[in-house]
Amino acid sequence: MDKVIVVTGASSGIGATLAREVGQMGASVVVAARREAELQAVAKESGANALAIVADVTRREEVKRIVAQSLARFGRIDVWVNNAGRGLSRSVEQLTDEDLDEMMLVNVKSALYGIQAVLPHMKERKRGHIINVSSMLGRIPFASVRSAYSASKHALMSLTANLRVDLHAAFPDIHVSSFLPGVVATDFGLNARHGGPDSRALPYAQPVSEVAQALAELIEHPRAEAYSRPGYQKQVADYYSAEDVAMIESRPPFVNR
Ligand SMILES: NC(=O)c1ccc[n+]([C@@H]2O[C@H](COP(=O)([O-])OP(=O)(O)OC[C@H]3O[C@@H](n4cnc5c(N)ncnc54)[C@H](OP(=O)(O)O)[C@@H]3O)[C@@H](O)[C@H]2O)c1
Repeated sequence: MDKVIVVTGASSGIGATLAREVGQMGASVVVAARREAELQAVAKESGANALAIVADVTRREEVKRIVAQSLARFGRIDVWVNNAGRGLSRSVEQLTDEDLDEMMLVNVKSALYGIQAVLPHMKERKRGHIINVSSMLGRIPFASVRSAYSASKHALMSLTANLRVDLHAAFPDIHVSSFLPGVVATDFGLNARHGGPDSRALPYAQPVSEVAQALAELIEHPRAEAYSRPGYQKQVADYYSAEDVAMIESRPPFVNR
């Protein structure tokens, strides 16, 4: 794979696994996150060229630095994956202002910073691919304990679609994608604000290797949206085509999740 690929949130989980996967396929990989030791370890396994950049994506200047350092090293960016993110475990009734602000900052503004930092370069080249890692919870709110997280991923879905529409006519070779995993067996649950269930312990958790492969496939074959499992799109369609949404919400998988 002859591409320069930047992955945010690549010190663990989906981002780290994707970086290793595409690095081993020959891509030149830039991994970014805050934990330096973990990041360096991932970079070592992500192909000979991999570059680790310690950065906090909730800070616009640091995201701009990821772009600058990537271009200084590789001269171009073909694919930018806004993958960094965090969960939250609280019902709507319990949410504080700080809870909602943190979710919007780490899951939405971080991606917006990435989009706005890399887009001038992609427009200049008239090509590129921006992937925003969303979630099934960005489409159907089936886990009420993840309320504000789910709301933030819905917001991310909207920004992604709006950007795609804006670029479509003038920049047909700049692709903008949403990637939607379900539950994935990573540290996501452990890292969630206010703790909560460990994603890896949930029986329906998808192995992270499968999710990274689906993401790598989206890089090879760009399209507007990709789910990490084939059946997920139908679940979304069923939810939105229901005559009575409350009926669907009263049945598993909505109940007690
Ligand atoms: N696991 C799931 O069930 C699941 C399901 C659907 C969608 N997703 C989405 O998949 C993405 C990856 O999550 P994961 O499952 O791989 O969880 P994870 O193992 O907790 O990974 C999250 C990554 O984001 C990075 N990150 C968090 N805040 C950051 C910040 N301020 N600046 C830079 N990097 C930051 C973390 O690195 P540092 O802490 O080193 O900064 C880490 O590398 C997220 O967007 C998540 O919402 C996950």
